[in-house]
Amino acid sequence: MEFNELITARRSIRKYEGGIGHEDLAEILHAAQQAPSWKNQQTSRCYAVETPETLEDLRAKALPSFNQNSSARAALVVTTFVKDTVGFDNDGRPVNEIGNGWGAYDLGLHDAYLVLAAKNLGYDTLIMGIRDAGVLREKLGIPANEEIMSVIAVGKAAESPAPRPRKAMEEVVRFF
Ligand SMILES: Cc1cc2nc3c(=O)[nH]c(=O)nc-3n(C[C@H](O)[C@H](O)[C@H](O)COP(=O)(O)O)c2cc1C
Repeated sequence: MEFNELITARRSIRKYEGGIGHEDLAEILHAAQQAPSWKNQQTSRCYAVETPETLEDLRAKALPSFNQNSSARAALVVTTFVKDTVGFDNDGRPVNEIGNGWGAYDLGLHDAYLVLAAKNLGYDTLIMGIRDAGVLREKLGIPANEEIMSVIAVGKAAESPAPRPRKAMEEVVRFF
């Protein structure tokens, strides 16, 4: 898909008719890895959940009902970042006031690539920040040194919502 068309066409989808095959999911996760990162540290991590039993268990236990319903029939990708690495010097001191916010920044870039790569392959996505990190950690064996951020639904859309409005550019951008 042409790039401007791609970023215009992507939107959060809350109704899916089906998930995604392993090869396509792997291709999308590989594309997400191409995102830039602080000193190329690549601290973003993905836990890709494909098997129906694990999906249903995770959905039921780690997501509130509205996100369970929105992501039904889609695959789930839990994204995390390794803490205390990006934004820290070799002695483990934060290089500035942002600290682990830089790891979250890198993961956000990674996830942006992920959702756009999915759209480009004919899939849609929903980033979900409202989730139970404790349940995800326990069920997927996510180590304590990783911060759990989002659960991203990936699948074939069964709805075609209108674009959500964006603020006027003058409200959010200043040119100097
Ligand atoms: C970090 C983040 C967390 C989000 N969490 C949720 C969520 O838990 N449930 C949900 O339905 N949508 C969630 N969204 C989707 C936003 O509501 C959506 O991106 C926004 O309304 C703009 O719509 P669009 O993605 O269709 O352009 C989240 C989006 C982001 C970036």
